[in-house]
Amino acid sequence: MKVLVTAASKYGSTTEIAEAIGEVLTERGLETTVASPQDVGSVEPYDAVILGSAVYAGHWQKEAKELVERTRDALTGRPVWLFSSGPIGDPPKPEEDPVDVAEILEATRAREHRVFPGKLVRKQLSFPEKALVMALRVRRVTSATGSPSERGLLRSPTPCRLPIGDGTTDQRPL
Ligand SMILES: Cc1cc2nc3c(=O)[nH]c(=O)nc-3n(C[C@H](O)[C@H](O)[C@H](O)COP(=O)(O)O)c2cc1C
Repeated sequence: MKVLVTAASKYGSTTEIAEAIGEVLTERGLETTVASPQDVGSVEPYDAVILGSAVYAGHWQKEAKELVERTRDALTGRPVWLFSSGPIGDPPKPEEDPVDVAEILEATRAREHRVFPGKLVRKQLSFPEKALVMALRVRRVTSATGSPSERGLLRSPTPCRLPIGDGTTDQRPL
């Protein structure tokens, strides 16, 4: 079984999530490829696709949306799971789903969409980005650092229907 894990990332933390998902799938015996959306020419070689994106100002990154546009027909013919990486702070904000997700769920006929906590390193941000984060009134952003497993991303307390589940949940067969 060949699985593609692809995620659009600006500062790298969403790529870290994709890599962590890829590692777990590989440990479970799946043949996993992790790649940036802009490097994916076709999804035809894969039996399943996990597609994610960082969220900025409510939107997925264009590289992920362009992949959906490019490969839409092939995506609808195989199992797809979506994830967004975004909410930051304590409590995590914003609470709403990214605005593009309903459309991408429909376009890909994805089985599920998950939101993972984002990660923010203030010194990487441009001045307008810092201002936007302040406008979101995010507090304690320094808590949103660390590796995906330190951020608890792969220890979801709820049943996980992604193929990263522990095999005891209601995963649909790929
Ligand atoms: C300027 C700016 C705007 C953001 N807007 C949102 C947003 O609308 N929704 C959200 O969930 N997260 C938002 N975030 C948080 C990012 O999605 C989060 O930091 C994510 O982990 C970044 O991923 P990356 O490192 O892969 O680029 C924003 C972050 C910045 C810096």
